[in-house]
Amino acid sequence: MSEKKARIAVLVSGGGTNLQALIGAQNRGLLHSGEIQLVISNNAGAYALERAKKAGIPTRTIVKKELGSQAAFEAAIRETLEKQEIDLVVLAGFLAILSEDFTSRYPKRILNIHPSLIPSFCGAGYYGLRVHEEALKKGVKVTGATVHYVNEIPDGGEILMQKAVSVRENDTPETLQKRVMRLAEWKILPAAVEMVCQKLTERNEA
Ligand code: GRF
Repeated sequence: MSEKKARIAVLVSGGGTNLQALIGAQNRGLLHSGEIQLVISNNAGAYALERAKKAGIPTRTIVKKELGSQAAFEAAIRETLEKQEIDLVVLAGFLAILSEDFTSRYPKRILNIHPSLIPSFCGAGYYGLRVHEEALKKGVKVTGATVHYVNEIPDGGEILMQKAVSVRENDTPETLQKRVMRLAEWKILPAAVEMVCQKLTERNEA
């Protein structure tokens, strides 16, 4: 078996607990077919950057406002990914929109974690606490998380993995968000990344 690992970049905007789950999985050997080479943030204040630094992972901050346009922002990300010869891009709480021009260059090479069972509570505008607020408003008894490939449709790419989480009667958006993260997101994201990296490295060997 080849020793070659897929080269992963994780794109973040905020707290980075999903990034932390990936780092933990890598340290424990659960994620072994790929290695996080780089963390890119679109927000200089993201705590995720601290987590990356503590783990010894190189970071880059790329801010759309500083670059002036979506095209320049995406070009800077692409250039960084290319320089690092990245095989797989993982969006882990990355709140910037990526255009079709960007996503179409990386078919089946970009993953995203979404905190609901797609196709429920997803698409444009469904991020952060809003997802859980809407789930509670609707009164669903089960929600969860989804890892999917990213294409030009927000939360619309092929589903790779899902995990269900029960809603409790006294849940608030905050308690539900935390439980979905702990019981679903932090588990299926590393598992899905390993699954895709395995596929990518097998393909390289063939
Ligand atoms: C998570 O709920 C994830 O599903 C969503 O954004 C949140 C990011 O949290 N896409 P964190 O930055 O990983 O803590």
